[in-house]
Amino acid sequence: MFRENFAWGVATAAYQIEGAAHKDGRGLSVWDTFTADGNCFNGHTGDVACDHYHRFEDDVKLMKELGVKAYRFSLSWSRIIPKGFGEINQKGIAFYNRLIDCLIANDITPYITLFHWDYPYELEIRGSWSNPDSPKWFVEYARVVFREFGDRVKHFITFNEPQCFIACGYGSGIHAPGLRCSNRDLILKAHNVLLAHGLTVRLFREMIPDGQIGYAPTCAVSIPVSDLAEDIEAARKSYFDASAVEWTWCVSWWSDPVMLGRYPEHTEAFKLYGKYLPKTYKEDLKIISEPIDFYCQNIYQGYPTKATETGYERLPNPVETPINSLAWPVTPKSVYWGPKFLYERYGKPIIISENGMACHDVITADGKVHDSGRINFMQGYLSEIGRAIKDGVDITGYMYWSLMDNFEWGHGYAQRFGIIYVDYNTLERTPKDSFYWYKKIIENNGNDL
Ligand code: FCB
Repeated sequence: MFRENFAWGVATAAYQIEGAAHKDGRGLSVWDTFTADGNCFNGHTGDVACDHYHRFEDDVKLMKELGVKAYRFSLSWSRIIPKGFGEINQKGIAFYNRLIDCLIANDITPYITLFHWDYPYELEIRGSWSNPDSPKWFVEYARVVFREFGDRVKHFITFNEPQCFIACGYGSGIHAPGLRCSNRDLILKAHNVLLAHGLTVRLFREMIPDGQIGYAPTCAVSIPVSDLAEDIEAARKSYFDASAVEWTWCVSWWSDPVMLGRYPEHTEAFKLYGKYLPKTYKEDLKIISEPIDFYCQNIYQGYPTKATETGYERLPNPVETPINSLAWPVTPKSVYWGPKFLYERYGKPIIISENGMACHDVITADGKVHDSGRINFMQGYLSEIGRAIKDGVDITGYMYWSLMDNFEWGHGYAQRFGIIYVDYNTLERTPKDSFYWYKKIIENNGNDL
């Protein structure tokens, strides 16, 4: 089922694990300023986080023991270029060089996400993604990354979940920088993010011709309520629709431009907000749709969807559906239908770049963490991925979120997604039962599922 070189992996992000927020010349990001104002659970911040900055060698050792083939992590833009543009911080470069070399020495393939939400503060106050120069700022950052690391790193991902940093950061304001902008602003920001993506892919082709690059959006999946053709079609429609209210959370607004070179023009959102796009948007789409090598999708959950006379309806999950500690529904079929619909539409190899479960984990008297709920989750989701592969979907990798418990954005340290437990007082790591379970699955290339 799973191909020979399937990229079994784990994922993390810089702000969530690194700590050393004010060390060795790192500049501020919007997550530093947002957390400093007490906007996250109990005033938690990423100042120390998992202290991965100082403990990365031990963390790589644990990954080696786990047996993962791939590690997806992000770079802190402001650790590399403290102001976001201009001067480079050699200590930041040196840190990532040490990490990359350590991964390679342990036969773990690095997958670098260029941007996982920790936007440089100095660029934020210059208008962030609304500034017409913002795509260029990003490309200049990417140039430094490709130049410094591209000799050894061959797998890159441009953006993580643009839906989330635009909708939560600038729409609802529950994430950094905590703004509530109009749809007019949001559409422009989204467009500049897409343009930054396309320009970066072009640069990548010039600078790392032997590498591969992808893009990692997200969106809750529409799962057909039955196997009837009309319910499947309803779910497909719903998954790629862009409604007026939910456009920031849909697949097509963010992926059709990249994969098909067009905005979803027939949707309600486009009819209402398409007018806010820059006049040059059609020209820009040529850049935005510069072909990528693999398509990533972060998938956590889905909702049953059925055909109705007027189209489709997304329903709540049935009452017996298990939930994680954030009340997200546990819906293994989301990783069957999501990749299937995406592969049909976009035709590129797919990596599940994030998937995981937050649980109320504790260390019990025997010194272990018995997270059977998470094992059950992984068993269910990985089995559905296997089923999708059997049905012809080209899924080439899976990155469990997350290697270890970490700073879960607005929820601070209260939500634990890791397969390694982190004691935030001592920073000690304890592999959970799920760690040993996943290790066995990897060892046998998923054949035990
Ligand atoms: C995703 C984020 C990741 C983590 C998981 C739980 O939306 O990309 O950083 O917070 O959710």
